[in-house]
Amino acid sequence: MALETTALPIYPASASATDDSAPATSLIHDDWYPAMRSDRLRGGKLATAMLLGIPLVLGRREDGRLFALRDSCPHRGIPLSCGWFDGRQVTCKYHGWGFEPVGGQCLEIPSLTSKDRLDPTKIYAGAFLCEERDGHAWVFVPRPGRGRLRDSEDLPPVPETPKFGTRFRSAHLTADLPCNVDHGIIGLMDPAHGPFVHQAWWWRSKASIHEKEKRFEPIPEGFRMSAHAPSGNSAPYKLLGVYGEPITTTIDFVLPNRRYETIRCGEKWFSSLTTVTPTTASQCRIDVVAAWNVFYHVPLVTTIAKFFGNRFVRQDQETMIQQAEGLKHNPSLMLIDDADRPAKWYFALKQARLAGSAGSHPMSGPVTLRWRS
Ligand code: FES
Ligand SMILES: [Fe+2]
Repeated sequence: MALETTALPIYPASASATDDSAPATSLIHDDWYPAMRSDRLRGGKLATAMLLGIPLVLGRREDGRLFALRDSCPHRGIPLSCGWFDGRQVTCKYHGWGFEPVGGQCLEIPSLTSKDRLDPTKIYAGAFLCEERDGHAWVFVPRPGRGRLRDSEDLPPVPETPKFGTRFRSAHLTADLPCNVDHGIIGLMDPAHGPFVHQAWWWRSKASIHEKEKRFEPIPEGFRMSAHAPSGNSAPYKLLGVYGEPITTTIDFVLPNRRYETIRCGEKWFSSLTTVTPTTASQCRIDVVAAWNVFYHVPLVTTIAKFFGNRFVRQDQETMIQQAEGLKHNPSLMLIDDADRPAKWYFALKQARLAGSAGSHPMSGPVTLRWRS
């Protein structure tokens, strides 16, 4: 299998992305979220991440297995990331308690004497299930009070970018967004911002705006923009036309935060999974992992794809940084039909999931939406 994974630069969080003045929202627990790129976890290094307001410390055991612990010692709360990791055990820097990092079990308490009755192995640091997919460390974030989870537990599968063959290239992008996860997600599914935010000679111009009609259908915990011939005014799709076969695109949104886009053109395909992950209740991060076999043999294709992908995500990021300035003052907002209908579905699906009625769906069947973009 020829798999080439290339990192894109991580944009430094802007000043406004690090303060927490953006309005907060409710968060969906009991699901998988990407914590960080897994290539940062090697050689006995510990790295920190924040998911849903929970500080985490991650690492890779010497047998290759990833782990994620709450970054807080169960003894007196100092971050475990301040301590040491020898490939097998995380040792707290304050009093030297040692923890097995995958399950969190305490293995030793150096201050105990032979007279002590305390059994260290009854003590656990907070441990999260952690799996590697597409170069991300994915962490299952249980609802508060759910208790310790085991590998054997019946959990949803770890999300992954769909691939349609074994030979492909891939790349990823990431950007911090200074807004809560809802604004990040509706920004992701909003069709009307394209001609304004993503104006560029290689993408599309404001003058190319025209009426569109797309069919949507309900899928479990989400909705699908049904397979369609993609927008004629996008340069990347025009490029795919060189293969001379019909091109179809399918875009799925699935709770809690996932957008899958698949473009197929005969044997050629491009596929991406974009997630918007709440780092806290008021901040989020967008991650894109794309895989493709189109132009597989063209030299520099990954570099070119990264350049354009980078520009594209940065345009969204810059716009959301500006939007965050406005949102700080808690303005009242509106969602209009039809362009914002997917955002309305998202809010209804999220509400149903939070209310414990994940089966109920805001769409009773296929719907056609119309907008100009
Ligand atoms: S605070 Fe960690 S061992 Fe005491
Ligand atoms: Fe965008």
